[in-house]
Amino acid sequence: MKHLLSIEDLDRVAIERICERAATFASPSDREIKKVPALRGHTVLNLFYEASTRTRSSFELAAKRLSADVVNFVASGSSVEKGESLKDTVLTLNAHRPDAIVIRTPWAGSAELVAGWTDAAIVNAGDGKHEHPTQALLDVYTLRRRVGDLAGAKIWIVGDVLHSRVARSNILAFQKMGAEVTVCGPPTLIPRGIEAMGCEVRYTLDDLPDADVVYALRMQHERMDQAWIPTLREYAAVYQINDKRLLPRQVLMHPGPVNRGVELSGGVVDSPQAAILEQVQAGVVVRMAVLYEVLAGARVGGVRDTAPQPATPEAQLA
Ligand code: CP
Repeated sequence: MKHLLSIEDLDRVAIERICERAATFASPSDREIKKVPALRGHTVLNLFYEASTRTRSSFELAAKRLSADVVNFVASGSSVEKGESLKDTVLTLNAHRPDAIVIRTPWAGSAELVAGWTDAAIVNAGDGKHEHPTQALLDVYTLRRRVGDLAGAKIWIVGDVLHSRVARSNILAFQKMGAEVTVCGPPTLIPRGIEAMGCEVRYTLDDLPDADVVYALRMQHERMDQAWIPTLREYAAVYQINDKRLLPRQVLMHPGPVNRGVELSGGVVDSPQAAILEQVQAGVVVRMAVLYEVLAGARVGGVRDTAPQPATPEAQLA
């Protein structure tokens, strides 16, 4: 695998391989010395044009735990503020010869564009409303640890599907793993024609008790340029996942950051059903597996055949 731009690039076997490799990184993450030398001598550039807590910190930790050198670039405080374009910024930073670029931007399709400007492996860390593939992978990893095989699992994705790159990546990933996906929200926040992705659509939570997993989405104020719902209070009255709507047997997920009291009540966020902090923990090991995959994959393709060859992580841990 040269790049990770979209979950569409992966089949079930590849998703399982990444999850299994991530699991091999879980034990060093629990040790006093958390590093393995898998990517020693490699440089990972984290290029973030949009706010991030979870994704940015976990990619940085992931690269460091693989012993890569890490350069963190955030648009604010950079020459982007003086008008430098995405292309010129990438070409400038590419002069440092990164082996991988992890990129988050508010622009759909930007990760693919960047892949055309550099030989580095590109990992899409969220491009506008398009995709967030590593979020989907860490969610599959987390769920497999909670419930086992996802084949036949009923997963409801609830909330602002329209503005959500997580929804798009997760619908694809959960279905590739054999789950049945339903999306639910106000009609204004469900994209027209989303049934073509193979998911069911609901506009009420009446059938939510059927779900094994409830995946709530954040209300994405920053991507809303008009009033899509009457008020957040009315949204919460109809769609909030709270202790009256969440059954004890159901697993609750959310990509974060959570708007407490809007899409989730504070009580369910802190409940044992919530896998939200497990998702954050999974972010590090899954992103270690993705960085390992794209860098090793690129060398197999001969793109950077002068780079040092790492032993497999499994061998390094043996
Ligand atoms: N889930 C997610 O992408 O969170 P951040 O925006 O904090 O990275």
